[in-house]
Amino acid sequence: MEERKRSIFVVDDEEPIRKVLNTHLSKEGFSVIQTSGGNSVFDTLKNSAFDIVISDIRMPEVDGIRVLEFVKENFDTTPVVMLTGLTDVAVAVEVMKKGAFDFIMKPVKKEELMAVVTRALVNRDLLERNKELEMENREYQLFLEQKVRERTRELNSKAMELQRAYGLLKSMNIQLINVLAETIEAKDRHTSGHCNRMRSLCVELGRLAGLTPEELETIEYASLLHDLGKIGISEAVLNKEGPLTSEECVHIKAHTEIGEKILSGVPLMEPVARIIVAHHEHYDGTGYPRNLAATEIPLPARIIAVVDLYDAMSSDRPYRKGLPLETVLGEMRRVSGAQLDPELVDLFLDNKVYHCNRG
Ligand SMILES: [Fe+2]
Repeated sequence: MEERKRSIFVVDDEEPIRKVLNTHLSKEGFSVIQTSGGNSVFDTLKNSAFDIVISDIRMPEVDGIRVLEFVKENFDTTPVVMLTGLTDVAVAVEVMKKGAFDFIMKPVKKEELMAVVTRALVNRDLLERNKELEMENREYQLFLEQKVRERTRELNSKAMELQRAYGLLKSMNIQLINVLAETIEAKDRHTSGHCNRMRSLCVELGRLAGLTPEELETIEYASLLHDLGKIGISEAVLNKEGPLTSEECVHIKAHTEIGEKILSGVPLMEPVARIIVAHHEHYDGTGYPRNLAATEIPLPARIIAVVDLYDAMSSDRPYRKGLPLETVLGEMRRVSGAQLDPELVDLFLDNKVYHCNRG
């Protein structure tokens, strides 16, 4: 590709000077535009692109300082070289401060002129390249920001999709658990509606006891499934009216561990399994199946124990009516600290948790 001819704008009111410059520069292959000055200088500058401006300082109409200021303001990478007479050295220093690239003393010597012009071009090219790089950098920055915005949008929409899928899965999960809970109730006719009542009271008491949202979800499942192991207990024993023999008692007590065994094969249900196996443990260590005491019993299991006792006493059974509320609450107070966690009994009674299931 043929290299573009570099162009130089020469502004000087003295024709002989312009001629000298024109001759030297043209010989070196530059394209030279020259003018004697005046206001047309600004139009010429606006309408053409020059690589260098060489301007006299003292001129009658528009002086070199105004030319310099105009170029600096409008074409910040274009170097301005000032021409000055011997007597103007102080002025020349002044224009350097204002941003001139260099100055050349008159009469102009070719070597000096070419040396300054060469340096001015190198300088200009560096500034131009720098400007280009800054621009590229800015564009790249914008490109990156745009990419980040797009990626964030994509991730947000994926997160929403996941949220929806999780919601669907959760509702399917709870439906399946409800089916299981109903299966247990169908087998044990003493406990109709028990699991669903347990669910809302346990979640409420759990909330008051400070369970996290995740733990509340676990206790919701555990409360519905706490008697899951009754699936493995004979119906004759479950539905027997009247006192149980000691063998029957042992048999029925096995429902805690049977429930644990059924669920422990399902990884997501392991936390639930750990709770349901402990729902007949007593705070004082006299419960079953492992004689755990106090905080050895998982908090959700202690919560289920409180609500389980309340519901067993207060709900109607085929062979008897539910006990009056005062009697139930009195009994809970009586076993607080023995069968039940006293702090949870206090929470249950003080906040009248039992009311949240009425109606
Ligand atoms: Fe139970």
